[in-house]
Amino acid sequence: MTTSLSAETGHTTAWTPCPILGIESSCDETSAAILNHEGTVLSNIVSSQDSVHRPFGGVVPELAARAHLSTIDRVVRSALTEAGLSRHDLGAIAVTQGPGLAGALLVGLNYAKGLAYGLSLPLIGVNHLEGHIASAWLADPTFPFPCIVLVVSGGHTHLFRREADGRTFLLGCTRDDAAGEAFDKGAQMLGLDYPGGPAIDRLARQGNPKTIRFPLSRLQKSSLEFSFSGLKTSLLYRLRGMDAAARAAQAADLAAGYQEAIVRVLVDRAFVAVRSSGVTALAVVGGVSANSRLRALLTSRAREEGVRLALPPMAYCTDNAAMIASAGRQSLLSGQRPVADLEILPSLRPGTYAGRTTVHAR
Ligand code: KG4
Ligand code: ZN
Repeated sequence: MTTSLSAETGHTTAWTPCPILGIESSCDETSAAILNHEGTVLSNIVSSQDSVHRPFGGVVPELAARAHLSTIDRVVRSALTEAGLSRHDLGAIAVTQGPGLAGALLVGLNYAKGLAYGLSLPLIGVNHLEGHIASAWLADPTFPFPCIVLVVSGGHTHLFRREADGRTFLLGCTRDDAAGEAFDKGAQMLGLDYPGGPAIDRLARQGNPKTIRFPLSRLQKSSLEFSFSGLKTSLLYRLRGMDAAARAAQAADLAAGYQEAIVRVLVDRAFVAVRSSGVTALAVVGGVSANSRLRALLTSRAREEGVRLALPPMAYCTDNAAMIASAGRQSLLSGQRPVADLEILPSLRPGTYAGRTTVHAR
C-alpha cells in the first residue's frame, strides 16, 4: 500500500489509484489530460499558442503567460467533458512544476492549487522532463527496463539509463544547444515559420540530404555528449555565401542536409549508449521525436540491431498533459507525498529533480 499526504489536512493517507488530472503550462502549450484509475488516457486536450508567437519567430514569455491564463479553464473543462467525468470524480491533480518559463508555470500551478484546495485533492508537482520520460510508457505500458531514454526537446538533449525501480542515470547531454533549439534556430536562418522543427521536417521531405552536407558533431567516438552550435554556425556561413535566388532554389536541400546532420548524431549517440550499457531497449521522447526522418532512421536501426524501440505517438511527443498526469500518477504510486504549497521551479536541472526522478552519478 502506498501512502501520501492529503493536500488539505497534511495527514498521511493511503493513495488508491483513481482518476487523475494532469496540467501542463511550462512553455507554449496549455494542456489538460485525465487518466483513469488504471492509467489509461481518457482525454488529452492541447491548446497551442503557435499563432500567438509566430509573428515574433519564437516564444515571448509574457504573451505565453497571458495566453495560458485566458485558456486554462476552458482546456481543463474540455478534458473533463471528453473524459465523461465531473471534477468531483477526480482523485488527484498533477501539475508541471518546472523547468520552464516562470510566468507560464505560475498559471498552471496556481490553477492546479486552487482546484486541489477547493476539491480537497492531493496535488503532486511533476518535473517536465520526467513527464517526457513517462510518455514512453503511455503508449506501450509493457516497455521493458532497464532501458536507454533519449529526451530530445526544445530545451533538452539528454541520454538517461532508466532502471525498473525508477532510478535514473544521466549518461550524457548537450554541451550547448538542445536539438530542438538547433532546429528552431536553423529554421529561423532559413526564413521558415515558427515553430521551426516541423517547418524543417516538412521542407526537408522535398530535398536531398546528400546534396548539401553539414558536419556531424561526433565529439569523441565513444562520447555520449552532443554539440549543435558548430552546425548552426556552418549553416550561417553557407547562407552568407548565397544570394536570395540561390537560397530559395536550394532551400529544400539545405533543410534536408541540416536535418540529417542533427538526426544522424542523435541516432548514433543513442545506439552507442544502448551498446555500451548492454541494454536492448531504447525510448526516444520529447518534441523532436516527432521528426519524421529521426523516426525512420531510429526504426530501421532498431530493427537491424534487434533493439526494442519506444517512439510515442505524435500526440505524446510535443508538450502535453497526459505525460504529466502519468508521471504524477507514478509518483503517487511510488509513495511521493503531495505538497499543498507547491512552488514553481523554473530552473530545474538534471541532478536537482523534483518528483520521482533523482539523477544518480554513474
Ligand atoms: O517537448 P517540446 O514540445 O517542448 C519542450 O519541452 O521544449 O519540444 C519542442 C521542440 C521545438 O524545438 C520544436 O521545434 C521541436 O520540438 N519539434 C520538432 C518537430 N516537432 C517539434 N523538431 C523536429 N521535427 C519535428 N517534426
Ligand atoms: Zn517538453
